[in-house]
Amino acid sequence: MKRPRARNSEPVRPVSIVGTGSYVPERVLTNADLEKMVDTTNEWIVSRTGIRERRIAAPGEFTSHMAAKAAQRAMTQAKVSAGEIDLILVATVTPDTFFPSTACHVQRLIGATSAACFDLSAACSGFLYAIEVAQQFISNRTYNTVLVIGADRLSSIVNWEDRNTCVLFGDGAGAALLRWRAGSSGVITTFMGSDGRHANILHMPGGGCAAPTTPENFDKKLNTLHMNGRETFKQAVISMQTATTKALEQSGLSIQDLSCIIPHQANLRIIEALAERMDVPLEKFHVNLDRYGNTSAAAVAIALDEASRTGRFHMGDYILMVVFGGGLTYASSVVQW
Ligand code: UT7
Repeated sequence: MKRPRARNSEPVRPVSIVGTGSYVPERVLTNADLEKMVDTTNEWIVSRTGIRERRIAAPGEFTSHMAAKAAQRAMTQAKVSAGEIDLILVATVTPDTFFPSTACHVQRLIGATSAACFDLSAACSGFLYAIEVAQQFISNRTYNTVLVIGADRLSSIVNWEDRNTCVLFGDGAGAALLRWRAGSSGVITTFMGSDGRHANILHMPGGGCAAPTTPENFDKKLNTLHMNGRETFKQAVISMQTATTKALEQSGLSIQDLSCIIPHQANLRIIEALAERMDVPLEKFHVNLDRYGNTSAAAVAIALDEASRTGRFHMGDYILMVVFGGGLTYASSVVQW
């Protein structure tokens, strides 16, 4: 097997994903349920997106609650106690509160009293952005153990009267614990990209200082997610192809070296287009969007946890995670498991 290379030629302290966990809420919202809410059909949703159902958080179940549950599952798997965690990073666009950060809420819920905490905003790409930040802190020896979480409660910002968007999204959280591990390649490389020129194809215009939450702005639904679906689709395919190519170049691996590809779970047709462009069979992709829809920053994290627990890949295998999201942001990570 080829020796992968790190992005920089300097040897860095190897960083491994030592545990993963995920959580989705109990309530299932099916396409049949949505047929009663907006002018849509199960046939349209399945054929255009591949989504059959999604999970919706209970009243009072916030992003931090889902994140803490996912984190606890990762901690159990990794046999890491709360006191050992040095840093908590939560990637989210639906924080419990603007401040404090959702990471601070998670810290309280799991009792990780020694951790520094902050949130990271890169929309659906946030989990891989956070993996890269964690890797930097660990490889430069600032921290030993970092808890990375992708969590979103998009049901709280979706316009439930807009059939163009409300059928696509769901709620959930996924977590990974990253640590230095001797003799392991772990996270080999992460590539991150952004293109702010496309900021308005997928965004929530209200709620920040540009359009504060006034009664007028609220009535205009500025506090909900707005999306140009066709343009987002086009940019998603281009940016995920770029991110995949870059991560493979950086790691010195070819697509055939990968045992599994874990893509952002937005639309099956986007994944099919990526598979075709990269000339790789669809079976190599782990797909769960039929059951969870697009859970934003949580999507790739939940899929990673599910794929590893169901034996989609094994110790020593190379896997690739690849994402895109609002911003526009995109990213990819090559990991040796
Ligand atoms: O994390 C990133 C998040 N976002 C994405 O990844 C979204 C990327 N984009 C997409 O996945 C697709 O563009 C959509 C699934 C959003 C839309 O699929 P499409 O094939 O691009 O459809 P379209 O926007 O071109 O719309 C086709 C038709 C329109 O009707 P007309 O104008 O042709 O009469 C829409 O009004 O489908 C209509 N439509 C629907 N019909 C039934 C849009 N949403 C629905 C719906 N049910 N839910």
